[in-house]
Amino acid sequence: MIPTLEWLPEGVNFLDQTKLPHEEVYVLATDYKQVATVIRDMITRGAMAIGVSGAMGVAIGIDRSTATDIPTLNAEVAEICAHLAATRPTAVNLFWGIDRVRDLYNSLAAKNTPIPEIKLAVIALANEMYDEDIANCKTLGANGAALLPQEGTILTHCNAGALAACGYGSALGVIRAAVEQGHKIDVIADETRPYLQGARLTAWELMKDNIPTTVACDNMAAYLMSKGRIQACIVGADRIAANGDTANKIGTFGVAILAKEFGIPFYVAAPWATIDVNTAHGDLIPIEQRDRKEVTHSNGKQMTPDNVGIENPAFDVTPSKYITAIITERGVLTAPFEESIARIADAAILA
Ligand code: MRU
Repeated sequence: MIPTLEWLPEGVNFLDQTKLPHEEVYVLATDYKQVATVIRDMITRGAMAIGVSGAMGVAIGIDRSTATDIPTLNAEVAEICAHLAATRPTAVNLFWGIDRVRDLYNSLAAKNTPIPEIKLAVIALANEMYDEDIANCKTLGANGAALLPQEGTILTHCNAGALAACGYGSALGVIRAAVEQGHKIDVIADETRPYLQGARLTAWELMKDNIPTTVACDNMAAYLMSKGRIQACIVGADRIAANGDTANKIGTFGVAILAKEFGIPFYVAAPWATIDVNTAHGDLIPIEQRDRKEVTHSNGKQMTPDNVGIENPAFDVTPSKYITAIITERGVLTAPFEESIARIADAAILA
């Protein structure tokens, strides 16, 4: 499995995704500020990977602290969490990851647990979340595999694979599980302008697994669908609102509209941690705006006239009416999504 990120005694080690597919190099973050830079600069990216990175960022911040009393450490933890939370706004997993470690810290600090014990406990939790993430991807992959055709071509957008998680992946996890079960599937990876997660990352990781993959430019989807070349679409998610509206990489919404027009199923695959029951609908999801240079430049070369206006929203929101099903590790959800999401949320509270 591709080691996307890993807790080491020296720090958190990240596969540098800005250098793929040409170089496989790692970046070691030795403090929480470096972890924040890794997230902001997209050295690691993808909702599940940044969720666990956020958790590891809080853990490393607490572990490296020289505070000798709880009040001093409390103030430091507040600063660590705020710094990490200010990196990327859309993927709710980041806040989930930070909050889980902060909640554990708060409960231990309230009991005046010795600081060395607190350090061991938060590191253990961050590592547990890493293992959980891989287990969730495998379970949701198995839950979704039967939805994919026995034979056919699946279109995916962005990278919702092992690289976007601690391993295996969400949308690509479903594809991997289907292939493991004997489905004869090949994949069309949308290139995913402007950051090229599809062309660089999805193509790279699927080819490593010998899953036949073709890269298509984003504007080719309608043509391919009209020719009967796509049997299903599957994407990941950065935040799913309580009504099923789904934020994912910019361009996802267009794919979903096209899929509906051509009668092709459109699936979203995401762990439960991506569902934000506190956000009622998609209009309330914050959309990250990124640097204009991601659009003006390609491979270091400027492609646009100087000073031209630029749009660069990193995500869009697909209204739930375009979504055939949401595949999670807790089961496959279908419309009406307000009800299916609420049912699973309630079951989790009772469990
Ligand atoms: O900007 P990125 O590369 O972090 O965006 C990633 C995506 O949009 C993925 O599709 C999404 O995180 C789902 S995979 C966990």
